[in-house]
Amino acid sequence: MLVALGLVAAYLMGSLSGSLLLARAFGRADPRSSGSGNAGATNALRTGGRGYGAAVLVFDLVKGVVAALLVPALLGLGFAAALACGAAAVIGHVYPVFFGFRGGKGAATLIGVLLALLPGALLLGLAVWIATLVASGYVGLATLLGMVGVSLATLFAPAAGLAAKVFVIVMTALIFYTHRENIQRLRAGTENRFERVMLRRR
Ligand code: G3P
Repeated sequence: MLVALGLVAAYLMGSLSGSLLLARAFGRADPRSSGSGNAGATNALRTGGRGYGAAVLVFDLVKGVVAALLVPALLGLGFAAALACGAAAVIGHVYPVFFGFRGGKGAATLIGVLLALLPGALLLGLAVWIATLVASGYVGLATLLGMVGVSLATLFAPAAGLAAKVFVIVMTALIFYTHRENIQRLRAGTENRFERVMLRRR
């Protein structure tokens, strides 16, 4: 019962899409209607500048931490249930009940969940993410390979239990699914590059 309550609370928390809430609050255009069409931090940066992008990143990341750390702690849930709450928050971010089930790709919220529950794996994933972004200039590719890094770090860590291994496999599958258009664009050579101009203040 408490686990179900935690999952619902985490899903609702995940459904609070940072980019869409902040767009409404500050009278900005819906990020789903421009750039990559994604309701996430990268597209917020791309379409609204670094202030909007940074605010969305922090918002979506923090809700992942809260859903995976605070919600389970308040309900007295264990590690496996906390991972399930984290997964529910990521799913809420991707399919937000408050925004017609059209949300983001889940990366920032998942980073928050990993920070809370699997920080070692996150560290390796971030190293891969940064290296890929610097080498290729593609955020989407960096996210995909970073997630592979998180998975490998967890699957081969002797201390990681079954719940953590199942969690990273399911989350990797979800991240690849949410990035399916990025994968198509990468194959077609039309993926958006991360340009320095994206970092300008607006
Ligand atoms: O987390 C989303 C990022 O990996 C890609 O974003 O807007 O380039 O599809 P975008």
